[in-house]
Amino acid sequence: MADFKIAPSILSADFARLGEEVDNVIKSGADIVHFDVMDNHYVPNLTIGPLVCDALRKHGVTAEIDVHLMVKPVDRIIPDFAEAGASYITFHPEGSEHIDRTLQMIRELGCKSGLVFNPATPLDCLKYVMDKVDMILLMSVNPGFGGQSFIPATLDKLREARKLIDDSGYDIRLEIDGGVKVDNIREIAEAGADTFVAGSAIFGAVGENDANDYDTVVGAMRAELAKA
Ligand code: DX5
Ligand code: ZN
Repeated sequence: MADFKIAPSILSADFARLGEEVDNVIKSGADIVHFDVMDNHYVPNLTIGPLVCDALRKHGVTAEIDVHLMVKPVDRIIPDFAEAGASYITFHPEGSEHIDRTLQMIRELGCKSGLVFNPATPLDCLKYVMDKVDMILLMSVNPGFGGQSFIPATLDKLREARKLIDDSGYDIRLEIDGGVKVDNIREIAEAGADTFVAGSAIFGAVGENDANDYDTVVGAMRAELAKA
């Protein structure tokens, strides 16, 4: 079975209790903290920056932090995230004038690098930088907000990206972001994804007594992935 990883997007967490939220979701069996950075310019929303990443590290979070930069231009802020303890730093090709250079900078700063493709952005530029990416992230919604529906055409794009990775022979993770739920995660895994971002599906899960129920939803996702 593939090495599947679940990456809860803290965009849907309770920001007033962020450290505790991250602790709870990692305790429930999630693997990676997905950290959505929005600048109210590249995307029409504004979220969190390096100070919050640093605060999570100081709080004691040791899980990998996967920083998804929805920011333009992107280069200026990258060293700050490396300093703040990011594990992965991914960006959209539209956010950089020099994609190859930005990828190199991320690795030189000691982080894993990645490119993110919007639903209608072709994978073309990947061909020239396969040796410089540790992660390919396909957006299955248009970036900017949690809680949107999975765009089905992304399944074919996942198969295309999976083939590129397998043919390249490089060790590259294939991450999917947007509208991932218990009832579609298996199909998404079968199309080639190995890393699954889920925001509203995880942080919106409420169990008995209206308490958050991350164990149940993360467990249900793992059970679906075990069938893929
Ligand atoms: C959207 C973000 C996502 C978002 C996913 O721009 O990149 O990470 O939080 O949220 P859900 O899982 O609710 O679609
Ligand atoms: Zn994201």
